[in-house]
Amino acid sequence: MTTAEVRHTYLEFFKAREHSEIPSAPLVPENDPTTLFTSSGMQPLLPYLLGEKHPSGVRLVDSQKSFRAEDIEEVGDNRHTTFFEMLGNWSLGDYFKSEQLPWFFEFLTKEIGLDPQKLYVTVFSGDEKLGITKDEESIEIWKRIFKEEGIDAIAVDIGTEADGYARGMREGERIFAYEAKKNWWSRSGTPEKMPAGEPGGPDSEVFYDFGTAHDTAFGEHCHPNCDCGRFMEIGNSVFMEYIKKSDGSFEKLPQQNVDFGGGLERIVAAANDVSDVFCIDSLYGIITEIESLSGKVYGENEEESAAFRIVADHFRGAVFMIGDGVVPSNTEQGYFVRRLLRRAVLKMDTLEMEPHTLHTLVPIVIQQYEAQYPNLRAQKDVIQKNIEEEEARFRKTVERGLKEFEKRSGENISGRDAFVLFTTHGFPIELTLELAAERGITVDMEGFRSEMEKHQALSRAGAEQKFKGGLADGGEKTTMYHSATHLLLAGLRKYLGEDVHQAGSNITTERTRFDFTYPEKVDRETLDKVEQYVNDAIKAQAEMTIEEMPKEQAKAEGVEGSFWEKYPEVVKVYTLRDANGVVWSRELCGGPHVSNTNEITGVFKIVKEESSSAGVRRVKAVLE
Ligand code: ALA
Repeated sequence: MTTAEVRHTYLEFFKAREHSEIPSAPLVPENDPTTLFTSSGMQPLLPYLLGEKHPSGVRLVDSQKSFRAEDIEEVGDNRHTTFFEMLGNWSLGDYFKSEQLPWFFEFLTKEIGLDPQKLYVTVFSGDEKLGITKDEESIEIWKRIFKEEGIDAIAVDIGTEADGYARGMREGERIFAYEAKKNWWSRSGTPEKMPAGEPGGPDSEVFYDFGTAHDTAFGEHCHPNCDCGRFMEIGNSVFMEYIKKSDGSFEKLPQQNVDFGGGLERIVAAANDVSDVFCIDSLYGIITEIESLSGKVYGENEEESAAFRIVADHFRGAVFMIGDGVVPSNTEQGYFVRRLLRRAVLKMDTLEMEPHTLHTLVPIVIQQYEAQYPNLRAQKDVIQKNIEEEEARFRKTVERGLKEFEKRSGENISGRDAFVLFTTHGFPIELTLELAAERGITVDMEGFRSEMEKHQALSRAGAEQKFKGGLADGGEKTTMYHSATHLLLAGLRKYLGEDVHQAGSNITTERTRFDFTYPEKVDRETLDKVEQYVNDAIKAQAEMTIEEMPKEQAKAEGVEGSFWEKYPEVVKVYTLRDANGVVWSRELCGGPHVSNTNEITGVFKIVKEESSSAGVRRVKAVLE
């Protein structure tokens, strides 16, 4: 079955059960500045799950374009993608478990033709602290469903994922109860992580068994939630009937909802009994094009296959994103398009694809998807142009770095050189390692790390000095300059590119002096734009928020900072965001800052631009 057939069959199946089909919402949520991307079908439906009346009724079905930025690094195996379509059906206070579970099972077995023997399910094991008991009702429903197929499904309590690996599964077991980490769903995860006012509930997932051998690298024994690749989750029925209260307890929502989500690509993979989602028609079309552009064959070796998958996934994601109006940039959603395309270009090179050809893959994606998403055809030229330009821009950055690299060729690369290549020329360390390996020379990684550490310590000491100085002599003025300097960096990155990072700064009550990585003189026209950016941000009355978050999350969200490896696991992120949700600056920092840009008095002016050292420029700016 093709992707289009499975999508169509699903929509028709639920329409025949009185569901109204609703269109996919865009990838960028409307009126929701708290989230960068639509990453599940329920997000756009939140108000209706909480009780608002939906114009299309109480039963809805759709296929929602989704993007999960946190999965970027996972892409490369046979199942993870950043962009995917989520099939969804909803009951807004209408039907519940005893309709949902049999319907989904019927869809899988009768419409798609999956063998019931290959299906395994999970349910919520309950949580005493929350006073929410084990989902016995779903267990009984699943037993009945399997019984009708002549299967005696045994239910078993597992608990945590670790328990699953330790215990494994026994003959006849088919219904597995796991704790909240696995069988509770809300936008923010487990019950503990949910903020007050957030809805969520226990869920029941269906897994398809590909029958491959267990890989003990993942854990001693296999179980449905094992990551070895034998089982793949193909659908999740969330019984969204709770809401978190401000005292941390849970109460029932006024209505019992069903929020079902199933990865379309995964269901297609199961329908064709291929464990590799990149082998289904919608992705394989792109893989085939990459084969002809690279002369390589998909599936011949693991490293190359991973590169094929990264190019295919990232490229497709970027096409959909640009189709929804997001173009490569350094901030917010645009940053992710840039990151997708740049990673794709690096992997193109691994596959020895002809440079500057990434955009030639656009027609195949459009062909695969235009029937469902006609906006792609309409946006074809814009999509192609943006991808072509981004590839060119990135290759230029790499080329500049390459020149620097070649200057050192013949000899092993010292830690200092690797450091300069990275910090001054924006040359990724992975690339330095790769090129060195090609030329049979070494990179002193220890030296590299220690250079990074030294630099980090220096800039930290500098920062402390700066803050101290600022507070000692007329704190207010220096605090203003400090926040304005964050905006300055954001403006420089907006107009000069994401390879611009802070290389140093010095703030007094009179001015800010700021050093940043950039290889050439910045013309006045650009400086004017940067100036304007800072002044616009001041006018926009952007609020400063300070959040603590895991470093990895900050990175994934595109927070600006240098020397990530030296920061602790939990970092402080300073964000200036206006009432329209526009983020003017987002940086790792330690403060102090204004709490709103309207506290910055005066007009920001860049009064000087000069060279600071090789590859580093310096500007001086004042608030007049
Ligand atoms: N909202 C649920 C999910 O994303 C169905 O898994």
